[in-house]
Amino acid sequence: MKEPIADACPFRHPLDQGPDGINRPGLYLNERYHEIRDSGTGVVEVMRIAGGTAKLVTRYDDVVMVLRDPAFSRERALPFDDVAGLDGTLLGLDGPGHSRVRRLVSDHFTPRAIGALRDRIERCTAARLQAMLSSGSSADLVADFALPVALETITDLLGLPEADRTDFYHWSRAFLSHSTLSPQEAEASLFAMYDHLSRLLRHRRETPVGDLLSQIAADGAGLPEHQQVMLPIALLLGGWETVASNIATFTQVLLSHPYGTYDSAWPYRPRPSPARSVAP
Ligand code: HEM
Repeated sequence: MKEPIADACPFRHPLDQGPDGINRPGLYLNERYHEIRDSGTGVVEVMRIAGGTAKLVTRYDDVVMVLRDPAFSRERALPFDDVAGLDGTLLGLDGPGHSRVRRLVSDHFTPRAIGALRDRIERCTAARLQAMLSSGSSADLVADFALPVALETITDLLGLPEADRTDFYHWSRAFLSHSTLSPQEAEASLFAMYDHLSRLLRHRRETPVGDLLSQIAADGAGLPEHQQVMLPIALLLGGWETVASNIATFTQVLLSHPYGTYDSAWPYRPRPSPARSVAP
């Protein structure tokens, strides 16, 4: 084992922030993460963008333990760290409160339910690829493929009207662009999305159409309004850019490291644990 890394602790986190405070992560993990993970306890104190310090846990087994052990609480952390309005969302609840909200949507995320989306996703993927091929000699994988395919999938799953999707695209992009927009601009996008979803949920409660939004409107009617509205927002924000980034990242990974050329220098290390369920 290497010696613990010496540094004028705490680190600034995320570790890819430039001197201007903007985070510019690349495809590969910042070398610092490897150093931290491979030395000492694998846990260091970091300084958050929003201010204050936190512990950065870098080893897989420790992360699993933190996520599973009820000694670690999301709710108790919120008063110190609710920069993203997570109060009342799945990412801000513990125990029975968390289970109550999660139960509202969990039947839409079983392997069988996700499998039923396969045809629709394949059609959407083929249409986007065809459009890229038809547009000429070059295309932008992120803008023309990854972002729209991921957004169409998650908005289909929720049942957001086609006519509203451009608005959701802009609101979500703005909300997620913490490093390029001011907190006020990000907040304004969240409010706009919140108002719109609140109206949609009321509408679905009066006129259900069998989609996930109608289910949240009906089964979540007993929850505070904030929790009802933040649930589809969490699904949209949590399920969109994560998937889009991974489509782009792993396209690059497969192009640069085709199957069969796996080597010990490759920074992503496979974990042997089989996938049991699908988010959330
Ligand atoms: C490759 C894509 C994805 C990645 C890398 C990813 C990553 C993660 C991680 C690390 C967490 C745990 C966060 C924590 O507990 O602090 C999480 C939770 C969650 N994710 Fe994802 N996610 C992905 C796709 C999705 C999708 C497609 C959806 C929704 C359609 C989604 C919705 C959620 C929700 C709602 C939670 C909270 C779950 C709970 O607390 O019970 N994610 N995700």
